[in-house]
Amino acid sequence: VSEPLRFYGELARWWPLVSPVEDYAEEATFTASVLRDATGGPLQTLLELGSGGGHVAWHLGGLLPGDVSMTLVDVSPEMLEVSRARNAGAEHLAGDMRDLRLGRSYDAVLVHDAIDYMTSEDELRAALTTAYVHCRPGGGAVFVPDRTRETFEEEADHGGSDAPEGHGVRFLEWAWDPDPDDSWFLVEYAFVLREADGRVRSVHETHRCGVFDLATWLRLLTEVGFEPETVDEETTEDRVPRTFFVGRRPEP
Ligand SMILES: C[S@@+](CC[C@H](N)C(=O)[O-])C[C@H]1O[C@@H](n2cnc3c(N)ncnc32)[C@H](O)[C@@H]1O
Repeated sequence: VSEPLRFYGELARWWPLVSPVEDYAEEATFTASVLRDATGGPLQTLLELGSGGGHVAWHLGGLLPGDVSMTLVDVSPEMLEVSRARNAGAEHLAGDMRDLRLGRSYDAVLVHDAIDYMTSEDELRAALTTAYVHCRPGGGAVFVPDRTRETFEEEADHGGSDAPEGHGVRFLEWAWDPDPDDSWFLVEYAFVLREADGRVRSVHETHRCGVFDLATWLRLLTEVGFEPETVDEETTEDRVPRTFFVGRRPEP
């Protein structure tokens, strides 16, 4: 498994073509409603950890109250650059969700699909702790893993799109699990990248992703101090609905 990932590094400029912002509309609408329900009191400040290209955040900006202020954190400076171009009004900070400590608290904290990069219980606990310490008492955190152990299936998918400037990407994404008894699986990505002048290259990259069962999620959320709950996603997208994990930080 290559570290750091080229997908979120030198290849970050291809992100809007690999995972177009329009594709997040329905999921972001559902995420906004879960965030509102998770947060007691006002939702004026939001921290997103692992915000990537800022595609979910861009939708949330239009779905949450107009005065919501967003802090977007990612470990990759290149992905932050992509997000800055789309979310000019948001604060962007480099940081690792496992140990970030901003010394501030937010009404709500979101960790969308980036939580998939936590591959052990210790890493997941560290990310949940980061969310907890940045959540004000009475506020809430929402975590959206692509899969839980209960919903995991080995699968392959493909996609891609073209930019108006003439460059384009096509890719294959293939999830498989060498050992269903541990907490991680692999995703093989094969990208074919075509520049506007017709030059084409291909890149293969393996991502190691975490997968945890519901009981583990709920236990870890409780351990770090949250009152946990699950919300089943309602979606018309052609995929397994996600399980949203909600943690409410109790008032003292
Ligand atoms: C699939 S992308 C997120 C895309 C995002 N949901 C969007 O709307 O554009 C996953 C992101 O997680 C980030 N990431 C992975 N591990 C991280 C960590 N430990 N801390 C912070 N960000 C991390 C990667 O750099 C990448 O940008």
